[in-house]
Amino acid sequence: PFTAKCLKSGMTVEVAEGQSLLQALLDAGVDMDYSCEGGVCGTCVVPLVSGQVEHLDEFLMEDEQEDQMITCVSRGEGEIEIDV
Ligand code: FES
Repeated sequence: PFTAKCLKSGMTVEVAEGQSLLQALLDAGVDMDYSCEGGVCGTCVVPLVSGQVEHLDEFLMEDEQEDQMITCVSRGEGEIEIDV
């Protein structure tokens, strides 16, 4: 499990094991675009502000991983901050 602070919406979402960050955001009422839910299309990307992320997608280039994350497959460690 990990926690995502959503700076734009002011919400904090808890992401359970076996749940995607995308799903947790949708459940919390955050308006998210998505398509493949498999880490390949890039539709569900969000700006990453701080925190350690395990990038599990096939979309972002290495330099993009510093400040973006793919919410359908990638996971934070502890607490992360995203700009949604
Ligand atoms: Fe396609 Fe997340 S929905 S990469």
